[in-house]
Amino acid sequence: MPLLGFGTWQAHGESAHRAVSVALDAGYRLIDTATAYGNEDLVGRAIAESAVPREEIFITTKLPPERAGREQRTIDESLRMLGVDQLDLWLIHWPPSRGSLVDLWRRLIEIRDAGQTRTIGVSNYSLAQIDSLIAETGEAPAVNQIKWGPRLFNAAEVKGHHERGVVLEGYSPFKTTRLGDPVLTRVAQAHGVSPAQVVVRWHIQHGIVVIPKSVTPARIHTNGDVFGFKLSAEEMAAIDGLGH
Ligand SMILES: NC(=O)c1ccc[n+]([C@@H]2O[C@H](COP(=O)([O-])OP(=O)(O)OC[C@H]3O[C@@H](n4cnc5c(N)ncnc54)[C@H](OP(=O)(O)O)[C@@H]3O)[C@@H](O)[C@H]2O)c1
Repeated sequence: MPLLGFGTWQAHGESAHRAVSVALDAGYRLIDTATAYGNEDLVGRAIAESAVPREEIFITTKLPPERAGREQRTIDESLRMLGVDQLDLWLIHWPPSRGSLVDLWRRLIEIRDAGQTRTIGVSNYSLAQIDSLIAETGEAPAVNQIKWGPRLFNAAEVKGHHERGVVLEGYSPFKTTRLGDPVLTRVAQAHGVSPAQVVVRWHIQHGIVVIPKSVTPARIHTNGDVFGFKLSAEEMAAIDGLGH
């Protein structure tokens, strides 16, 4: 799974289609969408038109938990709109408020075993909820996608996911961050990059998947241009410190 991905929440219409095209051209190889975003068809169109082969693109979409009982129909629709015959990752978008956490997880396991998605995971789950899935089914989610950023940094949470073999994927890296924070601007100036690039790079050096969203072509390019500099241990620790 690539550590750098591209988010598409609140991207609609032609700007969503263009943003995904620009992101693929700029080198992003993970695209994150969801049934609830209402843009899977636009994401699918950009993927189909791209020169990047399907097998080089990691496609994630998400099941709204209210669709429990209609999982099969939901993934069939997602695959049709995305224009592919298999997802790379299908997530339960958030824990179901009604019905059983474990029963829904068992349905995802069945659908994964039938081949419509390579892997399955969850989003917005606590470690305790993940533990109940593991205890009841013996199968850990491949990924937990949760709100993350320097101000939400929590070493125990990172360790907890690692110990359970669950990839931590962060969302809303910028919305959870004050990009004008003096620590971020100091580090950004030292490397001649933007605070947003520092935030993306910080995730990657922690081994946390990051999926920045933008519909602005210049930002799409710079946000993903994070492989030409490296944060020092001191800089990483200073950014971790924003979480305290
Ligand atoms: N699983 C979940 O429950 C969940 C929840 C939320 C998000 N997500 C996923 O995570 C992705 C990312 O999270 P997000 O969309 O909430 O927020 P985000 O990526 O933290 O921030 C997106 C916002 O930041 C702006 N932005 C982008 N680059 C910038 C830059 N360099 N400088 C200043 N502003 C910049 C964007 O504006 P423009 O677009 O106008 O450039 C947009 O308003 C989503 O798109 C979605 O795929 C998942």
